[in-house]
Amino acid sequence: MSELSVNHLLGIKYLKKEDIDLIFETADHFKEVINRPIKKVPSLRDITIANLFFENSTRTRLSFELAEKRLSADVINFSAASSSVKKGETLIDTVNNILSMKVDMVVMRHPNPGAGVFLSKHVEASIVNAGDGAHEHPTQALLDSYSIRERLGEVAGKKVVIVGDILHSRVALSNIFALKLQGAEVKVCGPKTLIPKYIEKLGVQVETDLRKVLNWCDIANMLRVQNERMEISYFPSTREYTQQFGVNKKILDSLDKEIVIMHPGPINRGVEITSDVADSNQAIILDQVQNGVAVRMAIIYLLASKIKR
Ligand code: NCD
Repeated sequence: MSELSVNHLLGIKYLKKEDIDLIFETADHFKEVINRPIKKVPSLRDITIANLFFENSTRTRLSFELAEKRLSADVINFSAASSSVKKGETLIDTVNNILSMKVDMVVMRHPNPGAGVFLSKHVEASIVNAGDGAHEHPTQALLDSYSIRERLGEVAGKKVVIVGDILHSRVALSNIFALKLQGAEVKVCGPKTLIPKYIEKLGVQVETDLRKVLNWCDIANMLRVQNERMEISYFPSTREYTQQFGVNKKILDSLDKEIVIMHPGPINRGVEITSDVADSNQAIILDQVQNGVAVRMAIIYLLASKIKR
């Protein structure tokens, strides 16, 4: 396959396995580019990209911006806090105003699930979902799988556990879709109140015993507890959460084998993982961040090559 089967990246659930393979092969090339002294290629000199962030972000926004600049695209940034959205403008009006300035691609983070799909039906631009509420975060899942492939050779056949707040996590849902599509085995682990009832229908198993599942897995992806999405308490206290579902070096060292630790960031040090785990050689957290730029370059490059002008 030489081009993506989709014109937008709205979620992993719209992708085929071949799309993921193509993104990873392209990312391999860009990873080599960003390790050169001159980290830039002229590929997208004729493309303008708008980054629209209606929800807070550090890593994802910077990663997209860097990816776009390393492809030589023109970039404009917009964050909801300083925009007319606060004055009552609709999403379609906001985006159409931006597009009338001749923008080809929109990277959008939005608190509402489905915001990217909605936009793709109403505006003439290629849309990349940078996280829509608790729904999907496709570029995060792709950089996560890419990092697994880099550390362990391939994703197929690997045993992955996603630990923590599955209920509110777009990272979890996109990872489940991506890992299953590539033939990995997936389990989720966390407090029962933070595991959605439908989850087993996605072909994943639920495990509430952290030690047991850590002994089973090759990789543990430790999620942050998303307090900002919670209106009620889902567990008695942070201390109890950490006691049951937090990973420290002592637990890791007591396992039968050495497992790989991942985290999408931002980390709550001492809650889901301790500092000695986050900073150990078993953790690939900073590799994930570095790979994020190459994977996003690949996605933007492949989508841009499908834009008809
Ligand atoms: C995640 C997100 O925003 O969904 N972070 C990220 O994109 N790097 C996860 C989180 O906020 O915990």
